[in-house]
Amino acid sequence: MKRIGVLTSGGDAPGMNAAVRAVVRTAAANEMSVVGFKRGYNGVLMQNLNPDDDYMLMTARKVSGIVHRGGTVLMTARCKEFFQPKYQQLAIDNMRSLGIEGLVVIGGDGSFAGARDLHDLGFPVIGIPGTIDNDLAYTEYTLGFDTALNTACDCVNRIRESSDSHERTSLVTVMGRDCGDIAIHTALACGAEFALVPEVPWSVEEVSARIKWGIVNGKRSTIVIFAEGAFASLTSDLHEICGRYEQLADIRDDKLTSSKLANVLEALTGQETRATVLGYIQRGGTPSASDRVLAARLGNRAVELLRDGRSGLVVGIRESRIIEVPIEETKGQKRPLNAELKQLVATLST
Ligand code: ADP
Ligand code: F6P
Repeated sequence: MKRIGVLTSGGDAPGMNAAVRAVVRTAAANEMSVVGFKRGYNGVLMQNLNPDDDYMLMTARKVSGIVHRGGTVLMTARCKEFFQPKYQQLAIDNMRSLGIEGLVVIGGDGSFAGARDLHDLGFPVIGIPGTIDNDLAYTEYTLGFDTALNTACDCVNRIRESSDSHERTSLVTVMGRDCGDIAIHTALACGAEFALVPEVPWSVEEVSARIKWGIVNGKRSTIVIFAEGAFASLTSDLHEICGRYEQLADIRDDKLTSSKLANVLEALTGQETRATVLGYIQRGGTPSASDRVLAARLGNRAVELLRDGRSGLVVGIRESRIIEVPIEETKGQKRPLNAELKQLVATLST
């Protein structure tokens, strides 16, 4: 294999640049050239008039000075066309026209689905798990999770200082559409009282009862870490509850948001409650050392697999060892709830 492609797809994640660098440098060490496709799968479709808008030759020098940068120098984007086989075949034809014999896809489960389709069409691909959500079951960690976790912890530590000063409850919303890993790890690392996650049903009644218990038992403030996907696992009838509290009447028909949830908790507990949504802060920032090391190892392994004629695999880490599994194994495989850590949050918040 003398030339490969690389792209970053889906939600960006700190560490993607370090992974791109590792791919390019490992390829160079094996006398292989690399084409970097821009904006995820859009670049491989090569639909721009100017080819420079779709791809670029990634020399060893092109990836100097990016190991510590968040985001992705290749940019990322969603590509709705890529769900269609005819565009997947177009991508293969385009890559072959450039002399590209294999592709490294850095992204999450959606991007892996696209990579799986390319493999099924006979084109060599290797996936690198790049998503802050840590929602891929086959690997202990995905690129970006550690950085996002540390960013969230820094934010929660700041919020706690204000929360303590005002003797308030703080509801902090973190990312994680389907997976509560960021919420659970942040709650444990920051000593929060709650980690509300999409995987576990919860109610405002139980949360408020626990907050009131904490007030009675001397807690100056309460931190509730809330995964954005946990709106889906709420079991309470907020419309009914809002009908019972005068101060909630004007938001009774409002869309469920973190702010509305904070107002409901304040009404139920009698303690001032403030909502903070961390949002895209978690997606940015310089990757942690851990994410950079993981990126280096995964990028290196991905290229070695292509060099050795392997395909249809995704690389990951288990018990500190780099592993590779068939890409089919990622299909519909969401990470199961980390019940041990979820329980530990509750135990240690007593
Ligand atoms: P992530 O990779 O972070 O999960 P998405 O789910 O948004 O991000 O997927 C990113 C891109 O991967 C999509 O815009 C699309 O181009 C491609 N993709 C996602 N799912 C599929 C699929 N089932 N088949 C083909 N391509 C897909
Ligand atoms: O998949 C990673 C992620 O950051 C999720 O946690 C979040 O819900 C989603 O991406 C946001 O997607 P977008 O970047 O398209 O707004």
